[in-house]
Amino acid sequence: MNIINPLKYAYLVMEDWFNLAFGSQWNPLYNMGRLSFFFFWIVFISGLYLFIFFDTSLSGAYASVEYITHEQWYVAGIMRSLHRYASDAAIITILLHMFREFALGRYTGFRWFSWVTGVPTLWIVITLGITGYWLVWDELALYVATLSSQLIDALPLIPGSMSRNFVGQQLSDRFFSLMAFLHFLGQPLFLIFALWLHVKRLSLVKITAPKGLAIGSFLGLLVLSIISPAVSHAPADTGQVTAVLNIDWFYLNVYPLVGYLNASQTWSITLSVTVFLMLLPWLPMKKTGPAAEVHLDHCNGCEQCAEDCPYDAITVQARTDGARFEHEVKVNAALCAACGICVGSCPSSNPFRQKNESLVTGIDMPQMPIDEIRNHMNKAIAELQGDSKIIIMGCENALNFSRFETSNIKVLSLFCIGMMPATLIEYALANGADGVFITGCRTGDCYFRYGNIWMDERFNGHRQPILRRRAQRSRIKVSRAAATDGERLQQELAEFQEHIRKLNKDEIATQTGLVNE
Ligand code: HEM
Repeated sequence: MNIINPLKYAYLVMEDWFNLAFGSQWNPLYNMGRLSFFFFWIVFISGLYLFIFFDTSLSGAYASVEYITHEQWYVAGIMRSLHRYASDAAIITILLHMFREFALGRYTGFRWFSWVTGVPTLWIVITLGITGYWLVWDELALYVATLSSQLIDALPLIPGSMSRNFVGQQLSDRFFSLMAFLHFLGQPLFLIFALWLHVKRLSLVKITAPKGLAIGSFLGLLVLSIISPAVSHAPADTGQVTAVLNIDWFYLNVYPLVGYLNASQTWSITLSVTVFLMLLPWLPMKKTGPAAEVHLDHCNGCEQCAEDCPYDAITVQARTDGARFEHEVKVNAALCAACGICVGSCPSSNPFRQKNESLVTGIDMPQMPIDEIRNHMNKAIAELQGDSKIIIMGCENALNFSRFETSNIKVLSLFCIGMMPATLIEYALANGADGVFITGCRTGDCYFRYGNIWMDERFNGHRQPILRRRAQRSRIKVSRAAATDGERLQQELAEFQEHIRKLNKDEIATQTGLVNE
């Protein structure tokens, strides 16, 4: 068992508790990236308001923050507290988002890009907080400024000694203005760029938090801002450095280290952690399977696969093979996550086609082509025995359900439940299966982001290719499960089997009744 497994199990159990408390739609653990964006919005809007009153000069900064906090406490003061607490909340959600991807093993293989761009994004957020504390120009700001300049002095690239500026009371207004510029414009622009890069390889990225979570967390921050408003320390006095400070551990955690060790050692530790985090996607060396392949002879250019691809790996271009269709699709192998969702999107992945020859579809996975899936299905159906013959189709990344295989239950494992063409269910039922049990990742979560959502939409007729009416719904059961839900799934399977048995009996009774009449 590799080291990540106990962590993954513990995390999945925790997510399940949160599902019980919040429901899957509002489960905060499923929405950490979106919540981080929401907190950025609060920080941005409150920051704009504070900017109206803030004096960007060294001599006026402290007094203007005091005015904001005490004179105008009822609006600007609350805005200041919201600004601070939403920034802290963003760090918590970013760290939890990062931890989730790690715990669930979603940082290796094709995900390396999102992971690697996430690390500097986190650093940008932290440095934004640091310049923010600097601007208050109180004792804490002086502490941050002094130790930051020691950190900068320790860099071999920058000549001269910045820290002397603070000891010798020579800090210029211009330097303070530079910090203000960085905080108000430079770093936010960097952050926007970093976030754009972070989600660049994903399509249909949702950056708005679910309503309930947004309202709930905003109210939480508001209450906190009212009962415990953010305040400053005493004004900065460059003649002395205060020993006792209320430090914000979310942003300023590195500074006690500078005091305890020294600037160079702090750099070494920070850089080592950064390099380690950046290399993490390659340490388990998880390979992404071969990319999807387009078979133009079977592609009518409907573009559904390009629309459904969660990783922006499929583009639409003008037809190149002279066929009567206007468009064709093209796979960018570097972006393909090998999830197979495009196979489920393709109307040509219909197993009723090309019955006596090899089945070829418009877009296929070379490591598990649709023809092989159909063959596997035929074999599984032929092996089924008993009075309730069931086929389970499911996502191999959700849980290992091959253990449920018995003489009357056969299993077909797919890369993602979104890979399953809806017609395959129809095919199973038409060719001898009494029931089809489908299991994908938990609602609100999908290993490949959108697989189980597209499956639901195909089933309820909102996304092509749909599950047709002729597929007998009473013989289909859709379930959701993660690695920790094996027992529950087994129970649901047993109930489904009982249900199928009863359906079979009722059907036989009806047919016999008809014959008797
Ligand atoms: C700094 C603030 C961050 C924000 C606002 C943010 C937001 C997001 C969002 C919205 C997504 C897309 C989720 C989806 O639609 O499926 C995402 C994906 C991802 N993020 Fe972040 N992220 C941040 C930082 C980080 C950090 C620090 C890491 C790790 C070092 C990280 C790792 C990832 C990974 C691996 C994915 C890809 C998930 C997938 O492909 O399923 N993120 N992030």
